[in-house]
Amino acid sequence: MCGIVGYYGSENAAPVLLKGLEKLEYRGYDSAGIALLENGNLRVVRKKGRVSELFNVKDMSGKLGIGHTRWATHGAPSETNAHPHVYGRFAVVHNGIIENDFALKEECRSRGEVFSSETDSEVIAHLLEFYYEGNFLTAVKSTVERLKGSYALAILCADCEGIILARKSSPLVVGSGNGGLFAASDISAIAAQGVDIYTLEDGEFALLATEITFFDGNLKRISKEKIEYDAEDETPDKKGYRHFMRKEMAEIPAVLGKSVCDFTAAKYREFYRVLKQTEQIQIVACGTAYHSGLCAKHAIESLCRVPVEVCIASEYRYSNPIVRPYTLALAVSQSGETADTLAAAEIAKSKGAYLVAVTNVPYSTITRLADYVLPTNAGREVAVAATKSFNAQLALLYSIASALDKAKGGAGFFDEILSLPEKVKCAEEACEEVRAWVPHFLGARSVFFLGRGADYATSLEGSLKLKEITYLPSEGYPAGELKHGTLALVDSSTPVVAVLTQKSVADKTMNAVHEVYARGAKVFLITCFEEYTSRKEVTASLLLPECKEEFTPILSVLPLQALAYYVSIARGNNPDKPRNLAKSVTVE
Ligand code: G6P
Repeated sequence: MCGIVGYYGSENAAPVLLKGLEKLEYRGYDSAGIALLENGNLRVVRKKGRVSELFNVKDMSGKLGIGHTRWATHGAPSETNAHPHVYGRFAVVHNGIIENDFALKEECRSRGEVFSSETDSEVIAHLLEFYYEGNFLTAVKSTVERLKGSYALAILCADCEGIILARKSSPLVVGSGNGGLFAASDISAIAAQGVDIYTLEDGEFALLATEITFFDGNLKRISKEKIEYDAEDETPDKKGYRHFMRKEMAEIPAVLGKSVCDFTAAKYREFYRVLKQTEQIQIVACGTAYHSGLCAKHAIESLCRVPVEVCIASEYRYSNPIVRPYTLALAVSQSGETADTLAAAEIAKSKGAYLVAVTNVPYSTITRLADYVLPTNAGREVAVAATKSFNAQLALLYSIASALDKAKGGAGFFDEILSLPEKVKCAEEACEEVRAWVPHFLGARSVFFLGRGADYATSLEGSLKLKEITYLPSEGYPAGELKHGTLALVDSSTPVVAVLTQKSVADKTMNAVHEVYARGAKVFLITCFEEYTSRKEVTASLLLPECKEEFTPILSVLPLQALAYYVSIARGNNPDKPRNLAKSVTVE
């Protein structure tokens, strides 16, 4: 991942760069650094840890600079591995992975060059110096032609008053306005009233000097249209909440009103036509988005009887997948930038699927790849652990299910979907009850989340949330499968969360509850059915509003998100920035 920024303008660059980097910390926060260029002198400051470590450089002079916040891939999080990397007259910040770095470094070493970091990125600065013959732009072109892998680059050259940007498979935007020229990994770092923003495409270059000049891969000048964006949505604040995660959870009921969608309306004619023809669906996604796919599979197969395959994108991309005629591929991605999801989506499309992007970020890379784009409209999500975007994905995917049912001659169930925001509101209010459960989880050796069918999919998401922000080992498990080995892990120090919203299998899930209770585990129940809440096996329970069985994950995930959040803060963690993770994973 990593986030990169660049600035050239009338103000001192350091504070502008730091402000941009703070907005990009969701992409990684292992180390941070900036390089400034003034009167031909390059000055670099790098620190291990968060961008705030750099605050004492705010007063450094210089109107031209680049910056970086890192999520470590090659080499430990340390000052020496922090960007910018400098060699000769070049300073470079990089987001992506250079896959042929080993061979390139050997080539440089054979010329007597010495490397000062363990990163793949440093080799880029060496190549720039090697290819430089007085022309900055051609040196960059020659360098990137040697690189295999992915990159978004911002580069300074001590001989030139400007920044050059290049990209392949990693996002990059540039902007101009308010007396400056800007570059960043995403819009949020530079969005402000009055700044025009443009996206850079793979293979293109941009030069930020007296103005922005765009070039294609052959260095021929090209022109670009600025994009539309909502400056307010791109500059979020916590609105009085202690963490973004809590604020984003509180937004869920309101968000859903914008995420449900009647795809039978005239403006969706093209998509509805595709639904009519669809014979199977493949969903490709990672992390939380993968779990929303699993929940959607349950709803679509049960209600529409159309087969749905849900694939982890990083597996799909290397599995030589079978894509039959009339396949609808749904690439689900909050950020629209996840490298594995993009690659999987590209493969599905190349094999003939109609590719629909379900994403929360307008202008993200996936929107340019897809045949059709369905925005989840959850608004900007800042916390690394996805919450509101998950519920928004579900609302949208359930809406697709309803339209698919209609397209296949059924009556649809859109009224039921329209009632979800209100039910979610009631469930969201009830979630505070899980705060009382927190002490039982603090000293746990491990935690299990159990469920069947859609409840199993929700359990996986509950477990992922807990792992991400509390660092407690945990597993989401099919309730009926536990006895085939994994039950051996359960003892009195294992809290078990049972999700029980599927009436037809409720008693079956209770069998697993009996089994873990008999081994001393404390059971915390999340259910829509009051009759189970007073069972002797249940230590505490949370009652959800009744809801169409296929859609319950949109409710039952809420207490699981809240549980993870409250356990995280009770353990002294920052739930917004969990260790080792980043929100947008733009590398393999
Ligand atoms: C990262 C985030 C997860 C997210 C996953 C997929 O791992 O930490 O929260 O679910 O990427 O992200 P996407 O943007 O494609 O939904």
